[in-house]
Amino acid sequence: MNQANTQGKRPYIIVIGNEKGGTGKSTISMHVIVYLLREGMTVGSIDVDARQGSLSRYIENRANFAQKIPGKSIPLPKHIAIFKSDKTDLNEAQQEEEAKVLEALDQLKGCDVIVIDTPGTDSYLSRVAHSYATTLITPLNDSLVDFDMLARVEGDNIRPSKYAEMVWEQKKNKAMRDGGSIDWIVLRNRLSNIKAKNKAEVEKWVGLLSKRIGVRTIDGLGERVIFRELFLQGLTLMDLRELEIKPTLSHIAARQEVKQLIDSIRVFQDTIQKIA
Ligand SMILES: Nc1ncnc2c1ncn2[C@@H]1O[C@H](COP(=O)(O)OP(=O)(O)OP(=O)(O)O)[C@@H](O)[C@H]1O
Ligand SMILES: [Mg+2]
Repeated sequence: MNQANTQGKRPYIIVIGNEKGGTGKSTISMHVIVYLLREGMTVGSIDVDARQGSLSRYIENRANFAQKIPGKSIPLPKHIAIFKSDKTDLNEAQQEEEAKVLEALDQLKGCDVIVIDTPGTDSYLSRVAHSYATTLITPLNDSLVDFDMLARVEGDNIRPSKYAEMVWEQKKNKAMRDGGSIDWIVLRNRLSNIKAKNKAEVEKWVGLLSKRIGVRTIDGLGERVIFRELFLQGLTLMDLRELEIKPTLSHIAARQEVKQLIDSIRVFQDTIQKIA
């Protein structure tokens, strides 16, 4: 992810996933994509939640906006939306979905990075996408209801729940396929400044996650209007400078939060590059 993909290196694959709906997956996908584009990288994006299509719509809005202001640079990812198979035979449907993912990855193989947005529910397509992650980012709203999707609280301890077990399966699939591993980051999203009892409680359990199910947890994104208000134009806070919009303090803080996320992905990338 650090340098241009000029020598046939495989793209770095970032999957954004959580089987809980509405935790910020599509929003974070778009912000990661635009951050990397603005760094001059070539970015491919895949929407495996094509039926809902939030990321696809966001990118479509961006392409439309870019056409309206030809003098400005509004970089775009190379985007592919993948729909679920409509075959009734389960085996055939799964084969078709696997083939679609492989085809999309092949079409985007010249990119430096591929970002994959997944749905907020379990599906075969989503599981296949997870198995190709180099880094998996799981956004989590600051609520114990969201936390429950990852791990069940039992007394003073936690045990992995459905989604964590699925990720574990995909780690095994990936290791068997190419010997690779998945770096898993849990990112708290929509954090408020208010010191609430619930917030401290979530913090405590998220802290235990890294020991118990092998994830890295990082400081997340705040609850900020700028993360959602530019959807219709297909823009993000990383585009404000190009549009000559003077950033506010909240914009600067938001940018720092996205940067921290990107930096945390790079920590892992540097490790694998040293090993290679
Ligand atoms: N940090 C944030 N600050 C403010 N609003 C946010 C933030 N993150 C996400 N949102 C808003 O929360 C809502 C859900 O976000 P988003 O659609 O990205 O979630 P999702 O996980 O992709 O949902 P789904 O599971 O349905 O695909 C949207 O209205 C989005 O604009
Ligand atoms: Mg979404």
